[in-house]
Amino acid sequence: MIPKAYHLSLLFFFSFLCLFFTLSRGDEKEVGYGYKVKSITKNSSGKSLTATLGVIKNSSIYGPDIQNLNLLASFETNDRLRIRITDADKQRWEIPQDIIPRQAYLPHRSLPENNVFIHYSNQAFPKNYSFSIPESDLILTIHTTSFSFYITRRSTGDILFDTSTTSLVFKDQYIQVSSSLPADRSSLYGLGEHTKSTFRLKPDQTLTLWNADIGSVNPDLNLYGSHPFYMDVRSPSLDGKVPAGTTHGVLLLNSNGMDIIYQGSQIAYKVIGGILDFYFLAGPSPTSVMQQYTGLIGLPAPMPYWSFGFHQCRYGYKNVADLEGVIAGYAKAGIPLEVMWTDIDHMDAYKDFTLDPVNFPADKMKSFVDQLHSKGQKYVLILDPGISINNTYATYIRGMQADVFIKRNGSPYLGKVWPGPVYFPDFLKPSVATYWQGEIAEFRKIIPFDGLWIDMNEISNFISSAPSPSTLDDPPYKINNSGNQRPINEKTVPATSIHFGNVTEYNVHNLYGFLESKATNTALSKVIKKRPFILSRSTFVGSGKYTAHWTGDNAATWDDLQYSIPSILNSGLFGIPMVGADICGFSRDTTEELCRRWIQLGAFYPFARDHSDKFTIRQELYLWDSVAESAKKSLGLRYRLLPYFYTLMNEAHTKGVPIARPLFFSFPEDVQTYSISSQFLLGKGVMVSPVLKQGEVSVDAYFPAGTWFNLFNFSKSVSVKSGSYINLDAPPDSINVHVREGNILAMQGEASTTELARKTAFHLLVAVNNSGNANGEVFLDDGEELEMGKDGGNWSLVKFSSELLGDEVKIKSEVVNGKFAVGQKWIIEKISFLGLKPEPMFKEYNLTVIGTSLYNDSKIKVTFDAKEGTAEVTGLSLVIGHEMDLNFHV
Ligand SMILES: *[C@@H]1O[C@H](CO)[C@@H](O)[C@H](O)[C@H]1NC(C)=O
Ligand SMILES: *[C@@H]1O[C@H](CO)[C@@H](O)[C@H](O)[C@H]1NC(C)=O
Ligand SMILES: *[C@@H]1O[C@H](CO)[C@@H](O)[C@H](O)[C@H]1NC(C)=O
Ligand SMILES: *[C@@H]1O[C@H](CO)[C@@H](O)[C@H](O)[C@H]1NC(C)=O
Ligand SMILES: *[C@@H]1O[C@H](CO)[C@@H](O)[C@H](O)[C@H]1NC(C)=O
Ligand SMILES: *[C@@H]1O[C@H](CO)[C@@H](O)[C@H](O)[C@H]1NC(C)=O
Ligand SMILES: *[C@@H]1O[C@H](CO)[C@@H](O)[C@H](O)[C@H]1NC(C)=O
Ligand SMILES: *[C@@H]1O[C@H](CO)[C@@H](O)[C@H](O)[C@H]1NC(C)=O
Ligand SMILES: *[C@@H]1O[C@H](CO)[C@@H](O)[C@H](O)[C@H]1NC(C)=O
Repeated sequence: MIPKAYHLSLLFFFSFLCLFFTLSRGDEKEVGYGYKVKSITKNSSGKSLTATLGVIKNSSIYGPDIQNLNLLASFETNDRLRIRITDADKQRWEIPQDIIPRQAYLPHRSLPENNVFIHYSNQAFPKNYSFSIPESDLILTIHTTSFSFYITRRSTGDILFDTSTTSLVFKDQYIQVSSSLPADRSSLYGLGEHTKSTFRLKPDQTLTLWNADIGSVNPDLNLYGSHPFYMDVRSPSLDGKVPAGTTHGVLLLNSNGMDIIYQGSQIAYKVIGGILDFYFLAGPSPTSVMQQYTGLIGLPAPMPYWSFGFHQCRYGYKNVADLEGVIAGYAKAGIPLEVMWTDIDHMDAYKDFTLDPVNFPADKMKSFVDQLHSKGQKYVLILDPGISINNTYATYIRGMQADVFIKRNGSPYLGKVWPGPVYFPDFLKPSVATYWQGEIAEFRKIIPFDGLWIDMNEISNFISSAPSPSTLDDPPYKINNSGNQRPINEKTVPATSIHFGNVTEYNVHNLYGFLESKATNTALSKVIKKRPFILSRSTFVGSGKYTAHWTGDNAATWDDLQYSIPSILNSGLFGIPMVGADICGFSRDTTEELCRRWIQLGAFYPFARDHSDKFTIRQELYLWDSVAESAKKSLGLRYRLLPYFYTLMNEAHTKGVPIARPLFFSFPEDVQTYSISSQFLLGKGVMVSPVLKQGEVSVDAYFPAGTWFNLFNFSKSVSVKSGSYINLDAPPDSINVHVREGNILAMQGEASTTELARKTAFHLLVAVNNSGNANGEVFLDDGEELEMGKDGGNWSLVKFSSELLGDEVKIKSEVVNGKFAVGQKWIIEKISFLGLKPEPMFKEYNLTVIGTSLYNDSKIKVTFDAKEGTAEVTGLSLVIGHEMDLNFHV
């Protein structure tokens, strides 16, 4: 049923004819000449409209134009405007609903008559057609003569996206659209995965998205993952209408290869397939953009508590004794070690789900892992997607029987990876989930691993197969693969390979790591029946729902140390907050100084793992005394902060906000924070300011306004009235980590494992602000329940706040679901106050908890330091699961 949409007036039609003849006189130089709007139909819901577009003039560059397009604009929520443009006559590839669930629409043509609200008669067809809903801050305007659109922010009039400077081009293998940007006011972040020296994107570069096994040591090349999402943080407008830090987000949901050309005053998308499916997220703060983005793509998976401990890995561990030696080395040095990993070394001839019978025999590995478990430690091992072709290999035999592999020309596509010839499971095929789970379950009977590391899933292939004559293998537009317009088939599965449902690799290439993460997450959850820990190298939009990520193959260089900060911050923006870089560097030989500085920083990555290449010197942290000392100190603070990290995990899981955040998340009004790439925040109030250069023993750190207390030494505080760079001492053994006034941190004690750390008493650190206020919270559960914080589950959330009333400091807690915490018998033993302003000095004190004086409790000790403005109360035994109201009368 075709809705009664009206078409353009004759008058308009003539003006198009004129335009057409003007353009057609010249030679065909343009990739495309744009589209005209033929009809606009507003849905009776008022929340969406559809428009039909027709090509103005044909161009054959990069293939014929698609003649008719359908546009859907829909306010899916008050904060989310979707604009979807696709072929009106033929279905095109788009990411299936079951892969990334999202709002579905009836095809335009099948809208029931009574749902259609016909808006314009042919006489009244306006040049600019505006569309919004009253509840939204976003307004869409469509130019109808030569189609383009722009999006403005109702509250400020700021133009967020404007495609009017170039024509829309829509061909089978080339789609182009661009938006102008206010170069002086727009700060862009995201559009990965790439290694960058700065977190804020620099203008005049091409950002290519095509998943590839290219080491993260290479700046500016397309890497393992594809995330066509950016956050645009605006500096204030001259007229003062746009406040500093007003932020929106833009996602182009498309899985095909693309180049995104960012020029400061323009961003252009050149995409080689699929459709245009834009999501505009209104913000207006960085935090709200993350909430809106993860609301669309999926909230980050909760990670088990243990995964916040320290991890050790290396490609090249020789045998079980080697692993045992490393564990003993950590124990002897007193450096916490939570998780031991193996790379492909444990495998028999590099075959997944096998153990090398000589160096890593099953019985020894089993008792090795049992031994780890008995000490509260964990074991994670690697899986690669390529299944070795070997008729004596059960995983391969079962794979062939179940017909699980990606095909080309009717038979499984033959690739080559570590084991030699391989086939790759097709994770698009529903039955592959069963196969994959079966293999994981079988292997776990042999060796009870705790988590899985899925590598090489770009897909990495050691060979490049010859292209077929199809333009899929050699598309007309060459994306800047590997910085050199390399063929898209290079060292991966060829684009003409076929997945389940007759889907080409061309279209789903960038989804492979995502699909493998999803299948592995489901499988491991079912097999271990606990919260799974998956670490994936390749990712796509929404991967954070299933996996953690590391930045891939970096190198032991000072540059790589610095790059790690933009990389982890970007992963957070992509909705994958559990992320880290290989501590001390993967390839090349590290040095004592670099490794020392790297563990100082890496101790504060959300995911902290030391990993190195086979062909490098060993770099376990105990190998140098100075590195060991630094590791103990910085990991010591990390372990004391574990409840904080874990609470941030819960916040990420419920609100989508990253664990490691750029400074502008907490200080969007401070434009100087927009360009910071050498520091980051954990949560809202802990700031990490590492040394990133060889030989330096001080660091120029940026401090947003306020008082900041050094977490290693409370008396070293920094207080700035407005944001300033401060030169801080950073002796070889130390890193600067500060907590800002206004925060309450619930900390625990140091220990060699997270399990032991969780048995220590809590310490509340209350850093009051100038008016005596501070707040914070702690989320508590068993650390491995499948769902985090589910309704009726075993968890507690305790919210702390403080205030100053005259000469009384009050700190109280509000407890959600206290039962769990009470059952665990967790107590608060110590409370430290920072930032008190005693006048003229502390007098006596009287401590009461909910009306009961603790004055005569001889276990309780109170110490003051009037000069520093600190007070410490020890010997308490306040049950954390009970609400408290503590008055500290000074
Ligand atoms: C149009 O509105 C109706 C209800 O009024 C709704 O069911 C339908 O999904 C809407 N269609 C679109 C494309 O928004
Ligand atoms: C473009 O080419 C197609 C197919 O060759 C043709 O049907 C159409 O009329 C042409 N459109 C214009 C605007 O010239
Ligand atoms: C349509 O919008 C453009 C700005 O994008 C403006 O220059 C033009 O005047 C508008 N035309 C009408 C008729 O409102
Ligand atoms: C198949 O696997 C077995 C056992 O690992 C190995 O001995 C044999 O060499 C493999 N065969 C091939 C062709 O790779
Ligand atoms: C491709 O990427 C490389 C490396 O970033 C860059 O130098 C080059 O200019 C890019 N080429 C194009 C055509 O964008
Ligand atoms: C698979 O898709 C191709 C086009 O991409 C088509 O030619 C072929 O007929 C399809 N095969 C099946 C079995 O649907
Ligand atoms: C803390 O820093 C202060 C000021 O630099 C210094 O005097 C003191 O010795 C330090 N305390 C500790 C325990 O390191
Ligand atoms: C202290 O924090 C409270 C609560 O967050 C806030 O309302 C107050 O403005 C802050 N005061 C100062 C001086 O920062
Ligand atoms: C401490 O406070 C409690 C409760 O307000 C009060 O009963 C008690 O007398 C006070 N003790 C001293 C020594 O001030």
